[in-house]
Amino acid sequence: LKAKMVIDKDFRISDIDPRIYGSFIEHLGRAVYGGIYEPDHPQADQNGFRRDVMELVKELRVPIVRYPGGNMVSAYNWEDGVGPEEQRPRRLELAWRTIETNEFGTNEFVQWAKEVNAEVMMAVNLGTRGIDAARNFIEYCNHPGGTYWSDLRKKHGFEQPHHIKTWCLGNEMDGPWQIGHKTPEEYGRLAVETAKAMRLVDPTIELVACGSSNSSMPTFPEWEAITLEHTYEQVDYISLHTYYGNRENDTANFLAKSLDMDHFIKTVISTCDYIKAKKRSKKTINLSFDEWNVWYHSNEADKKIEPWTIAPPQLEDVYNFEDALLVGCMLITLLKHADRVKIACLAQLVNVIAPIMTENGGRSWRQTIYYPYLHASLFGRGISLQPVISSPVYDSKDFTDVPYLEPAVVYNEEQDELTIFAVNRHLEKSLEVTCDVRSFEGYRIVEHIVLEHDDLKATNTAEVERVKPHTSGKSILNDGLLQASLSKASWNVIRLR
Ligand code: AHR
Repeated sequence: LKAKMVIDKDFRISDIDPRIYGSFIEHLGRAVYGGIYEPDHPQADQNGFRRDVMELVKELRVPIVRYPGGNMVSAYNWEDGVGPEEQRPRRLELAWRTIETNEFGTNEFVQWAKEVNAEVMMAVNLGTRGIDAARNFIEYCNHPGGTYWSDLRKKHGFEQPHHIKTWCLGNEMDGPWQIGHKTPEEYGRLAVETAKAMRLVDPTIELVACGSSNSSMPTFPEWEAITLEHTYEQVDYISLHTYYGNRENDTANFLAKSLDMDHFIKTVISTCDYIKAKKRSKKTINLSFDEWNVWYHSNEADKKIEPWTIAPPQLEDVYNFEDALLVGCMLITLLKHADRVKIACLAQLVNVIAPIMTENGGRSWRQTIYYPYLHASLFGRGISLQPVISSPVYDSKDFTDVPYLEPAVVYNEEQDELTIFAVNRHLEKSLEVTCDVRSFEGYRIVEHIVLEHDDLKATNTAEVERVKPHTSGKSILNDGLLQASLSKASWNVIRLR
């Protein structure tokens, strides 16, 4: 099977915003308790943060982490999670039907994020609350001092403001499951008024409005159009969320699902630009794909979890090799839209549908999906280039003309490095790819990393890492022509310098 690509320095899509390699920590299951925070763990630091987990997060170079939800934020009182620990209330957490101890809250998260060199993307509750709680919260976090809420932060031990720049105006407010679910008109009005008040407190912030929970929502894309009619001049981004699964065990169709993600992104861009035209606005709204991943393995197990327990093992998907391939295709899709997708969050980061898993009191390890995420975050910084591609295609249950070759190309001008990310979707055959890279004169192959496995369902555990990358990929470069052999069903990272 053969494919071709022409890559040129001048075929630029856009600079890549590093925040597309963001992630997400929700107060859900064992993401916080037993995940990033476990004071009794042998590896816990003085703040109760697990050092082993922080090391893995740092290895991923996660630039931004969304917090504290997710569905959880829609009934969250931020005041519960600040101040002396013994005075913090235990609450029923209604979104996931657990007990929230509030031992961990905003200040702990800000500290943790600092430790792992990540920015915070904070969400406010627009389900049960609104303008008042949001303006107090931002005053607590970002105002220097001399007022009730900013002085309270100081009293809680945080002299300096947190300077949180990116704020989400609620979460999935289009979803009937959301506490305080709203119509697009209700949400649009509340979001714009909250945005105005928050900007009065801190004019330097960036705001993300809620888009649709996924592209199959009955209100998509009318939700985007109506909410942006209200919020256009007050927000900077609109959010997108999507999760895919392989419930029918149809891998060819599963691996094509990034085409749905691509279509979703294009539709949201069109909708933003339609409102821009309608409003005769000079401003462009960008996209924050702030929840994306594979999620389905844990659905049945979750139904058996008893309600009202503390940090139960919810949404603990055990990822297999084919999941890593789709995650790779999804990362490639984000890179292809680097001109409009400026933030994206792999949902989530630890234990809950996550690349990093832990045992309470014990070990931590890397799931299969960790690797494409790691490679993209490390080598996918710079300029996204538009390759000219010719690839054989296939049809699957839900998709037609699915290319076997799914590539994205990143040029890092400062490091003088070119990286080709490519998935071969063919489940039986290798793909022989010829790439014209003549505009990168003098470049040589640094390495060709491959993630492959004979068993599409292979997983990693605390004991064994079955799915891990090797660097014996077959690529040769002669006179500006790169010949790369991409194994059947594989994720490839070809680095040139
Ligand atoms: O990430 C898990 C959940 O998925 C989030 O809480 C919610 O926003 C989405 O439905």
